[in-house]
Amino acid sequence: MSYLDATHKLYSEVAQTPDVGLCCTTSPIWQLPGLTIPKIMQDMNYGCGTTVSASDLVGSPTVLYVGVGGGMELLQFSYFSRKTNGVIGVDTVDAMLEACSTNLKTAQKENDWFSEAFIQLKKGDALNLPISNESVDVAAQNCLFNIFKTADLQKALSEMFRVLKPYGRLVMSDPICDEPLPDALRDNDQMRAACLSGAISLDDYIAALVSAGFATIELRARHAYRILSPEHHKTEKPIAIDSVEVCAIKDPMPPDGPCIFSGKTAIYYGSQPYLDDGKGHVLMVNQPLAVCDKTAAALQSLNEPIYISPSTYHYRGGGCC
Ligand SMILES: C[S@@+](CC[C@H](N)C(=O)[O-])C[C@H]1O[C@@H](n2cnc3c(N)ncnc32)[C@H](O)[C@@H]1O
Repeated sequence: MSYLDATHKLYSEVAQTPDVGLCCTTSPIWQLPGLTIPKIMQDMNYGCGTTVSASDLVGSPTVLYVGVGGGMELLQFSYFSRKTNGVIGVDTVDAMLEACSTNLKTAQKENDWFSEAFIQLKKGDALNLPISNESVDVAAQNCLFNIFKTADLQKALSEMFRVLKPYGRLVMSDPICDEPLPDALRDNDQMRAACLSGAISLDDYIAALVSAGFATIELRARHAYRILSPEHHKTEKPIAIDSVEVCAIKDPMPPDGPCIFSGKTAIYYGSQPYLDDGKGHVLMVNQPLAVCDKTAAALQSLNEPIYISPSTYHYRGGGCC
């Protein structure tokens, strides 16, 4: 059985018998005025963060969501798009599509603004999406792509890039791990399917997005997620796994490379009213400016009185690249 078959088997099982401990985080569930999330959707929250952000969802966008789970984030995206087939949910597991469809009927009963016609469920594979080129504004996946091995991850990301309109956004949440994982864990298909041992480093995760063509990467959240310990797993020392929330934008690649916003801020504290670096960055004295990592490094190298904060991994937009 391949790791993809093991994944299919696991999610077929947890579609039929919800497993509350699988993937979940302690992040609060999005609560919005008039939105009721059915209990069964909360029990089937197999994500490791959130991919739903109001700032991505202006103007009733068309959203593609890959790996539907119990349907909670499909419902949350629908809250913003509110149109027939405004959210397209793709999943390769029949039982998961059936469970999600049932849960959406429950959501319709509990939310007077919501119609199940807002969501179109499609059988399909993340590695070969049944979606036409440049047809969606926002693409999302939560806790699926970490399962994929390197070549499959690159294929899944290039599929998301293909279906996004220019300037469209890919929002993702996944576990990452900056320490090397022992082969015994990496090669364990069940642990990989359960989103525990496929995690790659944050640098490799970002590099895969850039390699797929995304030119702007926003790191929006980073949380402690799991510890793989010798008491429970085949490892000689505890290994920390974090979860991240990332947005990747399909905008043109700058000549000097991608803009990675990891949450750095620049503050000029010199004797002049402002500092102009001559490259489009004007820092008013003692005013914070969010900057991408490339600009942070360039400003640092000027040897001017500029403070550059560490990465917060909580970038929320604004500033300059
Ligand atoms: C860890 S769960 C995450 C579910 C959901 N995103 C959430 O946050 O609750 C992974 C989901 O991806 C689906 N899946 C697994 N392999 C897939 C593939 N190759 N293509 C599309 N969906 C897949 C599973 O059926 C399941 O719904």
